[in-house]
Amino acid sequence: MAEIRSVGVVGGGQMGAGIAQLAAVNGLEVWLHDSDSTALSRAHKSISSRIQSLISKSQLTKERGDEAIRNLRCSKSLEDFRTVDIVIEAILESEEVKKKLFAELDNIVKGSAILASNTSSISITRLASATKRPSQVIGMHFMNPPPIMKLVEIIRGANTSDDTFNATKQLAERLGKKIVCSQDFSGFIVNRILMPMINEAFHALYTGVATKEDIDAGMKLGTNHPMGPLELADHIGLDVCFSIMKVLHAGLGDSKYAPCPLLVQYVDAGRLGRKKGIGVYKYSKFDFCGFLRTILGIKSSNWADPANQPISVFFLRRTGIPREGRGMKFLFQCPCCACFCFVKPNKAAKPKENKEAIEKKQETNEKKKEGKEKVEANEKKEGAKEKEAKKE
Ligand SMILES: NC(=O)c1ccc[n+]([C@@H]2O[C@H](COP(=O)([O-])OP(=O)(O)OC[C@H]3O[C@@H](n4cnc5c(N)ncnc54)[C@H](O)[C@@H]3O)[C@@H](O)[C@H]2O)c1
Repeated sequence: MAEIRSVGVVGGGQMGAGIAQLAAVNGLEVWLHDSDSTALSRAHKSISSRIQSLISKSQLTKERGDEAIRNLRCSKSLEDFRTVDIVIEAILESEEVKKKLFAELDNIVKGSAILASNTSSISITRLASATKRPSQVIGMHFMNPPPIMKLVEIIRGANTSDDTFNATKQLAERLGKKIVCSQDFSGFIVNRILMPMINEAFHALYTGVATKEDIDAGMKLGTNHPMGPLELADHIGLDVCFSIMKVLHAGLGDSKYAPCPLLVQYVDAGRLGRKKGIGVYKYSKFDFCGFLRTILGIKSSNWADPANQPISVFFLRRTGIPREGRGMKFLFQCPCCACFCFVKPNKAAKPKENKEAIEKKQETNEKKKEGKEKVEANEKKEGAKEKEAKKE
């Protein structure tokens, strides 16, 4: 199969927008579609601002950033996907809705195009059965957030061809990802193991074993996980976790996979996690770190002006436990976007007055030292004179 040059992404939510950004930054032509036009324009805005932020942090050259923004086109119609080499679907986790979309895409895209799904758990074989090209249907499961996480899980359906597998693997590697391959069983590798752990954390909370904070701290500090399971569930989206548990339960037929009643209740109440401002935890809608940046006059995520400032302030987009090092001290975690704020003293950039004060201090110290040495020499001389007088 020829090299993949253009990608269609369906779904502009947290995963679809991240996948589209990743592909555009890596020089691919990208079409992004979402059935909700508000979600589509929100995705375009957030991709552009993330690319600008990468440029301002010098993690991306301006030329590559501008090219990525040019490479990205948003479309309200799937008809624009006629020429793409691969479609990566990242819509809601529902077999029925995904199947409908796959059947529609099958009638639109060119004969050689691959149809990939970013599903977390749904059978690729069953999605493929909705198309007339089952050998060109594959699972391409990115982790959240796609531009940062290193892994892509590739899932072969019962009929996926070697050509489709090799082209998908090459694409994942071009996007800078490591791949693992899974057989087509509910939850594949990562979610087969991760989701029951998250579900169990909900059971621990539900049955009063501990507070949410202690459950998360226990797993972070006790097992070295970068995020606690409840915090991670909010990050993934509780609706996504619920859908995956239902797929595991139905697909593997064991009651141990039944979704915890508390998880179900939170989803019913619309507490879907970070994306809704409330899940297990509450998140501030106020742009706290944006406000702080405005006050401090910080344009990018890194505020360091060695000529005048005795400290540097860093806002780093991170998840998990803040790791201090290289002189950086953790200050706080932002309540709106959970970025970490660090400060670092600028030893090399002390203000002028301080330098002068230090030089004066050094001068005084040297003078004091000289005076002390003189006194000692005089005392020695006088001592010697006294000795000679005694001898006489
Ligand atoms: N959230 C995670 O951490 C994560 C990680 C890996 C994989 N996934 C998988 O990625 C997929 C998307 O998850 P998400 O977290 O981005 O969800 P999301 O709710 O953030 O976004 C889904 C988007 O799809 C759009 N959409 C829904 N139906 C559509 C349709 N028929 N046509 C076009 N657009 C449609 C919605 O408007 C929404 O913008 C799911 O299959 C999920 O299981 C999620």
